[in-house]
Amino acid sequence: MPTPAELAQSHTELRPEELGHLQRLLGSWSVLADLSFSDLLLVVPVTPDEGHPTPTEDPELVVLGQMRPNNRPTLVDQDLVGQTINETQWDLASKCLHTGEIVRGSIHHPVLGEQVPVENIPVRFGDVVIAVLLRVSLAPLKGPTSMYERTYLDVFERLADMVAQSAFPYPDEDVGTEEAPRVGDGVVVVDADGRVEFASPNAMNAFHRMGIYAPPEGRRFGDLDIEETAIEWALTNGRPVVEEVERRPDVIVLLHCIPLLSHGVVTGAMILLRDVTDVRRLDRLLLSKDAAIREVHHRVKNNLQTISSLLSLQARRVDERAARIALQEAERRVRSISLVHEILSRDPSDQVPFAEIVVSLVQMAEDSVVSSQPIVITTNGDLGDVTADVATPLAVTLAELLQNAVEHAFDVEPAGAHETSPHKAEVGHVDVTLSHQDGELVVAVRDDGRGLPEGFDIEKTTSLGLSIVRDLVASQLEGRIAMEAVPAAEGGGTRVVISVPVRAPR
Ligand SMILES: Nc1ncnc2c1ncn2[C@@H]1O[C@H](COP(=O)(O)OP(=O)(O)O)[C@@H](O)[C@H]1O
Ligand SMILES: [Mg+2]
Repeated sequence: MPTPAELAQSHTELRPEELGHLQRLLGSWSVLADLSFSDLLLVVPVTPDEGHPTPTEDPELVVLGQMRPNNRPTLVDQDLVGQTINETQWDLASKCLHTGEIVRGSIHHPVLGEQVPVENIPVRFGDVVIAVLLRVSLAPLKGPTSMYERTYLDVFERLADMVAQSAFPYPDEDVGTEEAPRVGDGVVVVDADGRVEFASPNAMNAFHRMGIYAPPEGRRFGDLDIEETAIEWALTNGRPVVEEVERRPDVIVLLHCIPLLSHGVVTGAMILLRDVTDVRRLDRLLLSKDAAIREVHHRVKNNLQTISSLLSLQARRVDERAARIALQEAERRVRSISLVHEILSRDPSDQVPFAEIVVSLVQMAEDSVVSSQPIVITTNGDLGDVTADVATPLAVTLAELLQNAVEHAFDVEPAGAHETSPHKAEVGHVDVTLSHQDGELVVAVRDDGRGLPEGFDIEKTTSLGLSIVRDLVASQLEGRIAMEAVPAAEGGGTRVVISVPVRAPR
């Protein structure tokens, strides 16, 4: 379905500021439909097509927008937006367009088979009538009705006059704020002094929730103990205001104050009220839920860090080498998990930028270098954001692989040995490559060290580090692992490649 802007572009010669005026009208006219209990159409004259040899005798109108009332059944079932009609067919709209006057009459309703009242209101922008606002209604356009219907119709008429006088929609009002109150939420009409003339039943309910039981008629909002500076401002400046008023800590009401003008003079205002207490409470709850999730991650991280320091304290105290190494390894594993929680505690989303984890893991590996050979670790590529349930096992896995590279791939000699034999101090390289390939996350760790021991098979090894890696990749990551010695012709060393299918975030 074409947008009003597209229709205006293809059918009319509306200038951008004229289109802007009509778009503001389309953004705020649900209020008009409700106040008038009517279906509304906005029609614009079509510019004669250049393809036609002679300008057509019977100019056309195009329907730019359509709005149904919320408080009455619609009379216009079909979607008319984008349709064109000849002016002779819609002679009332045509007359309105050319005279610039409000034209009332009736049209034959094809489905009901009877005449229904219509009103055609010229939409002026500056001095020029640029469109016609058509109102189709089942109820008589005027006449005896209930008090609240009379008030709505009266306010509608005042707004319709403003449309004809180029005073509504207001210049530069923000269009379509989703939360903006609607007529059904509650209507209060005040006079030019801000005294309440009328309050709809829903507006009365809103007053009651605010703890105001005195009849509001004849009083200002200030007399009712409701902050009224916004209303005063709107009445003084003839501009609309949206304001949130808090009454007692637990009731929040949104006021949309729409000043009513007649020939440039403010004659009163319509105030739409909406109780947004529940919406705001939900906002706050959501906010605090985010904060709670962050807090939990923060505590998990702290606890993991405590465990990791306890392990390292203990490692320093045991004399037996194997026990010490085991404790140090456990400490390292716990630390790699806490990295993930550290990131999650900053941002409540379930996603972590894996690159940040890699930086810390590389740092950890560099810190634990025992080799006498200098080792350079480089990282290429990125995985982007990874869900936490993938990031944690992947972080532990990568930590193991980096640790193995710095621990096993290169020469270990007594410290200072290379100082006496400088040719030994050749630099060892470890490359980490991260990529997305065919819907998989691929992590490759390659070193140019001594390669794997004879007959090594990752599927069969019983040593702890690679067993952990194998289990995490198979069970938690549901991925694959390949570990091989790189032939000497390709530079030698070891390559480990882990592929993990990408999962949709929870
Ligand atoms: N990058 C590597 N280069 C050479 N050998 C390796 C490499 N990674 C692992 N290995 C070999 O695989 C063995 C098993 O590794 P792992 O399961 O991590 O146990 P650990 O590191 O405790 O020895 C290592 O002892 C080592 O012989
Ligand atoms: Mg290991």
